[in-house]
This record gives sequence, C-alpha cells and structure tokens, in this order.
Amino acid sequence: MKERKLNTQEVERENKIEGAHIEFDVRMMRRALDLAVRGVGQVSPSPLVGCVIASDKGEILGEGFYIYERVSHAEILALEEAGGRARGATAYVTLEPHAHHGRTPPCTEALMRAGVRRVVAPIEDPNPLVSGSGFRQLVEAGVEVSVGLLAREASRQNEKYICAMLKSRPFVHLKLAASLDGRIDFGRQEEDEMNLAGGGEARWLTGTRARGRVHELRHEHDAILIGANTVRADDPLLTDRSNRTRRRPLVRVVLDSKLSLSLESQLVKTASDNNPLLVFADEAQSHSGQVEALTSRGVKVELLPWGTKDLAGVLQKLYARSLQSVLVEGGARVAGAFLNKKLIDKVSFFIAPLIIGSADTTTAINASSMRAMRLRDVTHALHGEDVEISGYLEGEQRRGRSLSQWFDGVVRE
Ligand SMILES: NC(=O)c1ccc[n+]([C@@H]2O[C@H](COP(=O)([O-])OP(=O)(O)OC[C@H]3O[C@@H](n4cnc5c(N)ncnc54)[C@H](OP(=O)(O)O)[C@@H]3O)[C@@H](O)[C@H]2O)c1
Repeated sequence: MKERKLNTQEVERENKIEGAHIEFDVRMMRRALDLAVRGVGQVSPSPLVGCVIASDKGEILGEGFYIYERVSHAEILALEEAGGRARGATAYVTLEPHAHHGRTPPCTEALMRAGVRRVVAPIEDPNPLVSGSGFRQLVEAGVEVSVGLLAREASRQNEKYICAMLKSRPFVHLKLAASLDGRIDFGRQEEDEMNLAGGGEARWLTGTRARGRVHELRHEHDAILIGANTVRADDPLLTDRSNRTRRRPLVRVVLDSKLSLSLESQLVKTASDNNPLLVFADEAQSHSGQVEALTSRGVKVELLPWGTKDLAGVLQKLYARSLQSVLVEGGARVAGAFLNKKLIDKVSFFIAPLIIGSADTTTAINASSMRAMRLRDVTHALHGEDVEISGYLEGEQRRGRSLSQWFDGVVRE
C-alpha cells in the first residue's frame, strides 16, 4: 500500500523540500478539520468528518461536513459541490473514507467514480468495518493515498468516537470546578452570608464565562453524570444551555444506589423524553415503591446486579444506549471512584481565584486507592478570571493499547 505518514514536525521538514505543495496540504486539512467541527453535537454515535476537494491549481472546488440526520457523508457533499471539476482533483478527508455499505453506499466508490486523483487523510477509521479497507480500495484503484497529515489533531477531534470504537464504552471526561485550596464546595458556609458578600453570584465557585464554557462541554457530550450527594447538595438541572443544536437530548445520569432521589428535585420534575433522566441503583431496590414513583414521572431506572459501585457496568449500560461520551461532573466521591478504577480518559479542572478555607479536609477528589496521575497533552485556557486546565489520563488498556498509545500510534507508526 502506497502511503505517506507525516506529523506536523515532519510536515514542516518536508515543507522545505516540497515547499508550497505541503503547505497547501496542511492548509486544506486544517480547513477540513474546521468543517468537521460544525458537526459537534450532531454526529454521535458516528464520527465527525469534514472534506475539502481542491484542484492542483490550489482552488477549492467543494466542501462538506457530516451531520447524522442529513445522512450524506462529507465526501459526497463536497463531491456534489465540485461536480465534474472533481476529476483529477485532491480530496482532503479528516477520516478514512468507508468502503462498505452502511447507511450510505461506500464513499470510496463515489471518490473513484468522480475521478479524484489523490486522497489525503490523517487517520484510519478505527471502526473494524472500515479500518484500512477504505485506503486499500482506493490504492487498488490507482488513487494516490497519503495518510498521517495532522493525525494527532484529527484523532483528538474524534476522541469520543475513537474511544467508543476501541474500548466499547463511552469516552469519560471528568469536569470539576475547584478553589485555589482544592475545594469543590463551600462546605458549611451560609449561602445567605455568601450571597451578601458576592451579590448573588457567590454560590458559584467560577464566573459566568467559565460556566458558559461548561455548557459548551455539555454540548459535546451525549450524557452527564453525577452522584446522589450532589443532587442532595445542589439540586442541579444538568441541562445543555449552550443554545446550540443537538441531535439527541443530553442524557442526565445519577448514581443513587438506594434510589433516594427526591421526587421534588429539579432533575425529577423536569424528566421527559426530551430531557431524559436515567438513575442507576442497586438491584436490592427492585421492590421499593421508589421505582414505580420515579418511572411514573418519566424517570428511567436501571437496577444493577452488582450495584452502582460497578462503574464498568454503568458504562456498559450507557454504551448499550448508543451513548458515545459522558461528562462526569462530580462530586468528590464519584470523581474518586472513576479515577480509582482508571475509567477517566480526559480531565478538565476549572480553577477559580478563590480561597475557601476550612478545618475539614475534603478535597476535590475522594479516592482512597489511586496513585498520583499526571495529565498529558495539557492545555490551558482563561475564562474571565478562571483557568481551565485540561489533559488526558492513561486509563485502562483495551485491545492491547490504551487510548493515548493509540493516539501516539497514529502519528509514529
Ligand atoms: N465544584 C464542582 O465542580 C462540583 C461538582 C459536583 C459536586 N460538587 C459538590 O460535591 C459535593 C458532593 O460530593 P460527594 O463526594 O459528597 O458526593 P457525590 O460524589 O456527588 O455522590 C456520592 C454518592 O453517590 C452515590 N454513589 C452511587 N454509586 C457510586 C459510585 N460508584 N461511586 C461513588 N458514589 C456513588 C453514593 O450515595 P448512595 O450510597 O446514596 O448511592 C455516594 O455517597 C457537594 O457539596 C457538591 O456541591 C462540586
């Protein structure tokens, strides 16, 4: 198979040799990645895909990006826009084109039929139905195929899809807001007192901009999960208020082994098909009247034979509902339990310039058996006065490779 795999540094090196040609490839691939992002919230359980068709003279002939409901794949939309001018052109696609009959006929065939001369794609599709066969079919038909350009960016963009494909469970992203002294709540401080001091905003650790960013994060995920104590303490709504279009409603999930959720909580009062609430409890609750009380209010209750301590079982149930990603929003015990089990793929902490101070030693993560873990591929962002620090954790191994090893592999292999 004729392939060229390049990462960004290699591209820079190659650039000196091939000059404007490689620079143009990078520019077109970045554009395809930007197009793919427009599908956020609208592709799951499929991947984000963007495509640009460009002529040898450097003219963009067609563009497309994938949205699940529109059915047509990014390549097909870009080819339709390019029309007959696609003959002899290059297609820049952010993921390997598929060669099998799924919801749509193979994109490889459409690219070949259109006479595309060259296909540039960053990564293989980890879906076993596609993996490698799309590239193979193109090469066998005489199409020039280049794989590896901006591979890390492309694989991070599709981290949820790739995780679901490789681990057969949703991508798990832990998000917490914390003070400078590592606290995630105000403890016993009186709310009235705090509101007097902070003008009503004081019950939040972070400011409005950081909270806006959290809604963007919610928008990126299929589900959001918290522990029973957070419901008791905060009575949250847990909705996606990003004002962006999403294909499926955000599934709100609570771990509540004793099924103690108040029927008067905001979560229960707002439960509906359009605003789903899923509660995991221990099977011992099967005869409790709470099951009937909650289900009659539109809440979905899942009773787990091994109890809610079985987080792998919880993730399996979410995966079975075709959910590709879950944002874990706390509290300290739930965050600690996921970390203890090495079930967190990505972490985002929002650090507020605030010292709460307390004699009690509760910290953001309540984990008895975890070892210190350093994040990798760390990024920082400022939202008003708050700092977002995000990065990846090694996690458990699946199919012989951890997720981060897979990300390295697509660049280094
Ligand atoms: N700053 C932030 O970002 C943030 C975010 C969320 C919460 N918080 C704060 O965190 C505090 C609550 O934290 P918390 O640690 O006390 O409680 P939590 O993590 O919200 O909930 C823990 C409870 O969830 C239930 N649970 C069921 N299955 C579990 C499992 N596998 N692992 C862990 N818990 C499981 C247990 O209650 P049952 O035995 O009843 O099932 C457990 O006691 C609140 O004050 C809240 O304001 C802060």
